[in-house]
Amino acid sequence: MSTKQKKIAVLTSGGDAPGMNAAVRAVVRSAVFNDIECYGVYKGYEGLISDKLVKLNARGVNNIVNKGGTILKSARCNEFRTKEGRIKAKSTLDKYEIDSLVVIGGNGSLTGALLLEQEHGVNVIGIPGTIDNDLVGTRCTLGYDTALNTAVNAIDKIRDTASSHNRLFFIEVMGKGSGHIALNAGIGAGAEEVLIPEQDMGLDRLLKSLKKSEKSGKSSSIIVVSEGDKIGDNVFKFSSYIEKNLPHYEIRVSILGHIQRGGSPTCFDRVLASRMGVFALDCLLQNKSKIMVGVIDDKMVAIPIKEAISGGQALDEDLIRVCDIISI
Ligand code: F6P
Repeated sequence: MSTKQKKIAVLTSGGDAPGMNAAVRAVVRSAVFNDIECYGVYKGYEGLISDKLVKLNARGVNNIVNKGGTILKSARCNEFRTKEGRIKAKSTLDKYEIDSLVVIGGNGSLTGALLLEQEHGVNVIGIPGTIDNDLVGTRCTLGYDTALNTAVNAIDKIRDTASSHNRLFFIEVMGKGSGHIALNAGIGAGAEEVLIPEQDMGLDRLLKSLKKSEKSGKSSSIIVVSEGDKIGDNVFKFSSYIEKNLPHYEIRVSILGHIQRGGSPTCFDRVLASRMGVFALDCLLQNKSKIMVGVIDDKMVAIPIKEAISGGQALDEDLIRVCDIISI
């Protein structure tokens, strides 16, 4: 950060994620600690376009470390996808003489941040805030751990009723094209099958596998399915096929949906958010821009945003193997 730079703004954008508040708190307090003025932007890029900024101080972010959602609100902003929208956003930043922006969000939000830098020279630092864990260059995104725990808790409860009724349950979890939540929650909750977009299991293989489970003495089963393009489309495709081909099974479908995005962040997410927020300010103070902060091998790292958004974080092949072995 150059010596004349004294003002930054922070926003949360895209799907909210548990831990976003803890990250806002860390960014604000680290700014105050370093004598930098910090503004909060309401409703993500929408608030930047329509001038919804408020000055934040250390006390303004009291009592939020444990809160789910985001006190700054969030949005998926179509106007910001246009050049005109980004020109309006830049003029708001100019009005407040803000030249650095911390964006807490997922893939789309970081793509927007990069465009703001490329077109208008705004210094941008990304904090990966999404339950999907689909950004390259960080072992975990913010909110992922909480979402996983929420999903596992819900699946545990469904297991009680599944085994009481000898039923087959298809449970859809979130992930937007990435199977991290499904695979990890599936292993954690002891699912019999996990269907992820990275591996096309195919309906026939699923059928074969369920017949095998039945033969081996399983009277109920949990099948965790990662969401498709639309909530519900994948899980109903699979369940209808199995219902047709194994008519003696009693089948039920549960879509966990947005409960996975809410709730108080786990301690892991709170600590991660705090480290990421402080590290984001460290990076700004070192004149870094166009980077996303991340954590690899428990060390804070800075990754070019371009790389971070380059197409999902690969699933651990060994985890897939573990899942196959323990679900027999
Ligand atoms: O990216 C987070 C996420 O929760 C995805 O897992 C899901 O596909 C999507 O957002 C749902 O978005 P919305 O809340 O806009 O329906």
